[in-house]
Amino acid sequence: MKRFFIETFGCQMNVVDSEKAAALLRRLGYELTEDPQQAELILLNTCSVREKPEEKVYSRIRQIRSRSRRVLIGVMGCVAQLYGRRLLERVPGVDFVLGTQALGQLPEILERLQQGQPLVHTRTPNRPEFLEISPAERRLRHVAYVTIMEGCDKFCTFCIVPFTRGRERSRSPLRILAEVRALAEAGYQEVHLLGQNVNSYGLSERLELGQRLRFPNLLRLLAEVGGIPRLKFTTSHPRDFTPEIVRVIEEYPNLCNWVHLPPQSGSDRILALMNRGYTRAEYLRRIEWIRSAKREIAVTGDIIVGFPGETERDFQQTMALIEEVEFDGLYIFKYSPRPGTPAARLSDQVPDEVKTERLMRLEQRQREIQLKRWQRYVGRVIEVLVEGKSAKSESHWSGHTSDNIVVNFEDSRENIEGALVKVEITRVNPHSLFGRSLEVLR
Ligand code: 5AD
Ligand code: SF4
Repeated sequence: MKRFFIETFGCQMNVVDSEKAAALLRRLGYELTEDPQQAELILLNTCSVREKPEEKVYSRIRQIRSRSRRVLIGVMGCVAQLYGRRLLERVPGVDFVLGTQALGQLPEILERLQQGQPLVHTRTPNRPEFLEISPAERRLRHVAYVTIMEGCDKFCTFCIVPFTRGRERSRSPLRILAEVRALAEAGYQEVHLLGQNVNSYGLSERLELGQRLRFPNLLRLLAEVGGIPRLKFTTSHPRDFTPEIVRVIEEYPNLCNWVHLPPQSGSDRILALMNRGYTRAEYLRRIEWIRSAKREIAVTGDIIVGFPGETERDFQQTMALIEEVEFDGLYIFKYSPRPGTPAARLSDQVPDEVKTERLMRLEQRQREIQLKRWQRYVGRVIEVLVEGKSAKSESHWSGHTSDNIVVNFEDSRENIEGALVKVEITRVNPHSLFGRSLEVLR
């Protein structure tokens, strides 16, 4: 039996691709190992969204090679798609390169490797993105990722995704439905629908359940399946976000109280330079739709600081935006120029010290806002999906709420992993809530 090890960088899309690769390898008689030292084949599933995760991959390859000459190293994912053959020159010791859009070629590539040449695949005629995954391959036992669409046609000027993941394609609703039904039968507690821009589901092609099946209706269809207590989705692009999505969340209690809606900036000038396709006022209108829902819905976002040409004044508008919105969670990134993207060619790049300083100011303010906002949970009883023991203490468990906030709590029961538990919140920490459990629901 040959053993393989996969290390996954980047987003949930990559987690799904790693599951698909594992499925293909199992069919070829390989077995997954958690120990890279035991593996004959190591796959690095890479991310190129910023420079840092990209660099990490190069150092991992060097590290593995310095330990062992014999192990096969395959680079898959977004870095593989982006650089293809050039990757072989960049870091020696790679045996094959398998782009995101050629994942289905993995068996063929392994066969051809016997002939001894480094191999590169970044294009494939079939659609590897929608390979079926059986529950056996899934990394998580209680939360299942289900891809509903892939690629992106938005071409934000900072973003590499349209180049690594290709044009937007929606998966057939019938196949999504079949997958979600199977997950319900297998007892999954949470299904997380994935796409770079889920709101434009079904916009770019005719799907077999009638031409007009759009994202809100797909959500209705899946929420009706039953048997799955939690259904959530990421990522929402503000341009395609409609009030109907909020109505569907209101209609179905099994849709989570959470929308991830990245503003990226609070300055109209920068939003235009980013080619985001909405203004600050339009973004805020979407927040209003969400905040006026019958049920409380948490909003999280992503922000980029130091986009080329961003002045202190632009940055102040972003500061003011987070003040106004009061996000329940915010990911803040320093702009990182990506090869081939329009923004990387702009001349007025912002110095790194300025980016760092803006990032820190924004993070500091967000911490305060979040602490204050999360106070509303204290004294409430909320439902938590238990993921495992908490990192800090053996008698504490950890999980997340429907609004995607991490909760640590005390519970003396032997094993409640995977259960939905009612927890009374007693305290707010900077990155999580703390409480004590009352009863197990499911
Ligand atoms: N530099 C910094 N952050 C980026 N993101 C995407 N591209 C870049 C880049 N070039 C951020 C965006 C996106 C998140 C996934 O990563 O905020 O929403
Ligand atoms: Fe990284 Fe984007 Fe690729 Fe996900 S799709 S792995 S975030 S570059």
